[in-house]
Amino acid sequence: MIPFVIWNRQNQSGPAGVEQHDDAAAQVAPQPQSVPLADALVETIPDPFVLVDAGGRVVAANAAARHLFAARMTGEHLSQQIRAPSILDTIGDVIETGVARTVSFERRTGGGRRFEATISSIASGLPDETAPAAAILLRDMTDRQHLDRMRADFVANASHELRTPLASITGYIETLQGPARTDQAAQDRFLGRMLEQAHRMRRLIDDLLSLSRVEMNVHRTPSSVVDLSEIARYACEMMTSASKAEDCKIRVDAPAAAPVTGDRDELLQVVQNLIENAIKYGRSDKGIDVIVRIDAARRKVSLSVRDYGRGIAEEHLPRLTERFYRVSEQESRSRGGTGLGLAIVKHILLRHGADLDIESRIGQGTTFTIAMPVAGELSAAAE
Ligand SMILES: Nc1ncnc2c1ncn2[C@@H]1O[C@H](COP(=O)(O)OP(=O)(O)O)[C@@H](O)[C@H]1O
Ligand SMILES: [Mg+2]
Repeated sequence: MIPFVIWNRQNQSGPAGVEQHDDAAAQVAPQPQSVPLADALVETIPDPFVLVDAGGRVVAANAAARHLFAARMTGEHLSQQIRAPSILDTIGDVIETGVARTVSFERRTGGGRRFEATISSIASGLPDETAPAAAILLRDMTDRQHLDRMRADFVANASHELRTPLASITGYIETLQGPARTDQAAQDRFLGRMLEQAHRMRRLIDDLLSLSRVEMNVHRTPSSVVDLSEIARYACEMMTSASKAEDCKIRVDAPAAAPVTGDRDELLQVVQNLIENAIKYGRSDKGIDVIVRIDAARRKVSLSVRDYGRGIAEEHLPRLTERFYRVSEQESRSRGGTGLGLAIVKHILLRHGADLDIESRIGQGTTFTIAMPVAGELSAAAE
C-alpha cells in the first residue's frame, strides 16, 4: 500500500494530530508545517476519501467525497450518506480489530452505482472521542463491473457461436459412422454440409481475430495519408464477384482524390464490410451506391454506402455495432454472417477518429456514412 498522510481537523492548533502512516507501522511525526500539506494531499486524491471518528461521525472529507455525498458532511454521522449496513458494520469491526478491510456496496441514490470501500483503522493515540479512528477510501466500480460483464457476455456469445456449427459437424460424423455408413448419396450430402459448417467456423474465427487485432491497436492513431476515393474504387472492384453472384450493380461516385490520414488495409476492410452488408441485406435489382464527398468548408471527407433494401427499424440502429447483434439471426446466418462485421467497422473507425452515421427508412433502404478529417492541404483535383 502507498504510505499516506492523515490529519485531524479537530486539532489544527498543534502538531499532535498529524501522523504518518504506512501499512507496516504507525509513526508519530510532529511536523507543524505538514498540516496544510496533508490537507492539500488528501484533496488531490481523485477518489472519495473520508475520515470518521470512533462513533462513526465524519471528521474530514476530501473534494471527491464532498462532491459525491454532500458539500457539508463533516460532523454528521456517515450513515446519513451511506445507508448500506455492510460498510457501517465493517467500520466498527476495523476500529475494534485494527485490521483493514475492503467491502463493496451499492448506493441507490445517484443511479445505483457500485463502490468498493477500503477501510483502515487509525491509531491516533489521542484520548479525544472526535479524533479520526478510521479512513475510508472509495472506488467507483460501476464502469469496471459493466466492462467485466461485457467481457463475460462476449466470451459466452463467442463460445455459443462456435459450438453451434461444431455440434452439427459432430452430428454428421456420428451419422456417417452409423446409419449412413453404406449410403453414398447421404455421405456426399453430409460431407457438403460439414464443409459449410467448417467454413462458418472459419469465418467466425477470422472475424474474432480481426476484431481483437483492431481492438489492440485502438489507441494507436494511424499516421499515413491515404486516398479514400482510391480505397472506395478498389473495394468495389474487390466486391465485384460477390455482387455479380447476387446480380447487384455497384456504382461509385468519387472525386479524383480524397486524402485522409489512415491505415489503408483497415479502411478497405470498413468499406468492404459495408458493401458486403448492402449486397446481403439490400435489394439487388436496385444496386448499391458508393459515394465519396469532400466538404471543403468543414474539412471533412465522407464515404457513404447506400442500398435500397427493406431498411432497418429505428430501435435496432444504436445496437447494430455491438458484437453479435443482428436484426435477424436467421437471415444473417443464412447469408454467412457472423454478427461481427459492424463491430469491426466501429473499432477501426474509433482508431481513426472517424464518425459512423446510419440512416435507414423501412422499405426504402439504408445509408452508412463514415466521416473523417481531410489530410493536409486540399488540392484543386480534390476540390
Ligand atoms: N445494409 C443493411 N441493411 C439492413 N440490415 C443491415 C444492413 N447492414 C447491417 N444490417 C443488420 O445489422 C446486422 C449486423 O451486421 P454485421 O455486424 O455486419 O453482421 P452480419 O452481416 O455478419 O450479420 C446484420 O445482421 C443485419 O441485421
Ligand atoms: Mg456483415
